[in-house]
Amino acid sequence: MQFTLNGTQSDVPADWSNEPLLFVLREHFGLTGAKFGCGVGQCGACTVIVDGVATRSCVMRAEDVEDADVRTIEGLAQGEALHPVQQAWLDLGVPQCGYCQAGQIMSAVALLEETPQPSGDEIDAAMNGNLCRCGTYLRIKTAIARAAGAV
Ligand code: FES
Repeated sequence: MQFTLNGTQSDVPADWSNEPLLFVLREHFGLTGAKFGCGVGQCGACTVIVDGVATRSCVMRAEDVEDADVRTIEGLAQGEALHPVQQAWLDLGVPQCGYCQAGQIMSAVALLEETPQPSGDEIDAAMNGNLCRCGTYLRIKTAIARAAGAV
């Protein structure tokens, strides 16, 4: 099977197609930005964007994204230029331990692509499923507003 991975048509061998997308990304393609947290779709550490939608890659099999457009944090920057969300994260020093942050950023990117000027409530709703044990939520919210040009 094939899907588009960060803009490149990519092949998934048959013996990987029934594996969780997260494992295929990390172990077959070597893209380790998305993290394994809970493994049951509850924490958001594994979030990638599938056809424009923030998606928990731990509970989606690779074959479920056949012919889809899959984006991971590794595909956000354009050369040396960080994505505006990444830049806002850097400018505000959002991460603490960092483990959940790739998932946080991918959820934020999906939000801003769908809603470029989100309200505070819209940010809260979109980010509600991404957990952070360090409690960086306020910085995350501020960084999203900054990336949207609101701060
Ligand atoms: Fe996928 Fe927690 S590891 S949601």
